[in-house]
Amino acid sequence: MDDLLGQFSLKGKVAVVTGASEGIGRALALGLAMAGADIAVTARREAALRELRAEIEAVGRRAEACALDISRVDDIRRLKDFVVERFGGADILVNAAGFTVTKPAWDMEEGEWDRMLDVGFKGLFFSCQIIGALMRERGYGKIINLSSTFSRSIIKGRAVYGGIKAGVSHLTEALAFEWAADGIRVNALAPTAVATPSRAELLAGGGYERLVARIPLGRLAVPEDLFGAAIYLASPASDFVTGQTLFVDGGWVAAS
Ligand SMILES: NC(=O)c1ccc[n+]([C@@H]2O[C@H](COP(=O)([O-])OP(=O)(O)OC[C@H]3O[C@@H](n4cnc5c(N)ncnc54)[C@H](OP(=O)(O)O)[C@@H]3O)[C@@H](O)[C@H]2O)c1
Repeated sequence: MDDLLGQFSLKGKVAVVTGASEGIGRALALGLAMAGADIAVTARREAALRELRAEIEAVGRRAEACALDISRVDDIRRLKDFVVERFGGADILVNAAGFTVTKPAWDMEEGEWDRMLDVGFKGLFFSCQIIGALMRERGYGKIINLSSTFSRSIIKGRAVYGGIKAGVSHLTEALAFEWAADGIRVNALAPTAVATPSRAELLAGGGYERLVARIPLGRLAVPEDLFGAAIYLASPASDFVTGQTLFVDGGWVAAS
C-alpha cells in the first residue's frame, strides 16, 4: 500500500448530503468537501443551502443545491435527476435529515409521530433506494445513515426517536447485506448529543448537565467530532466495512 493517507481522500467523488441546511448535515457537507468531494446539498430551506454552497466553493470544491421535502418520494426522484444532470452520478450519500420531538411517550401526538417517521425513516429509506440506484449503476457506493446513541440506550422523552434510530441501525445492516453484491457499502454514524439548533429542547432545564454526566469523555460532541468517522466511511479506507454502526459518543454506549 503506497499511499496510505491517500485512501482517505474523497477527490473525484460526488456526495449527496440531506439535512444540509443546518447542524450535523451542514457540517458534514463541508467536512466531505474539505476531504475533496463535490457536494449536492439538500433540505427545504433554499437560502441556507445557497449559503452553504458558497462556503463549499470557498474551500475549492463544486456544490449544487436542490431544495426538497425528503418525506416526498417524488422529491427524492427529482433529486436523483438533479444529481445526474449536474454531476453525472453519485458515489456517497449522507442521510442527515431529521425531525425530533422530545416529550413523554404519554403525550406524543399522531402528527409528531408521522413527521418523525416520514423524515427520519421513510425519507432516509427512499433516499438510500433512489440515490443508491445511481451507485448500483457504477457497482460502487458509500451510504452513511445518521443513527444515534439512543439507538442503543434509553433516555426519557426519546422513546419514538430511539425506536426510529434503532430502526435506522437495523435498516443499515439489512441494506448492507442486500446491496453488498452491488458494491454499495451501507454504514451508520451514531453520535452522542451534539449541540445543534434542533437540540435546544433536550438541553434545556438541566438536560445538558444530565447528558454530560453520561459521557465518559466529559463533554457533548461538536459536529466536527464526526469528520474523521464520516470521511473514513465515505472513503476507500473503509471499503471492507459494511453494515456497521460507528458510535462517536465519547464512550456513552460503552458506559450504558
Ligand atoms: N444533534 C444531535 O444531538 C444528534 C445526535 C445523534 C444523532 N443525530 C442525528 O443527526 C441528524 C442531524 O441532526 P441535527 O441535530 O443536525 O438536525 P435535525 O434537526 O435532526 O435535522 C435537521 C435537518 O433536517 C432537514 N429537514 C427536516 N425536515 C425535512 C424535510 N421534510 N425535508 C428535507 N429536509 C428536512 C432540516 O432542513 P430544513 O429545515 O431546511 O428542511 C435540517 O437541515 C439527524 O438524523 C439526527 O437524528 C443528531
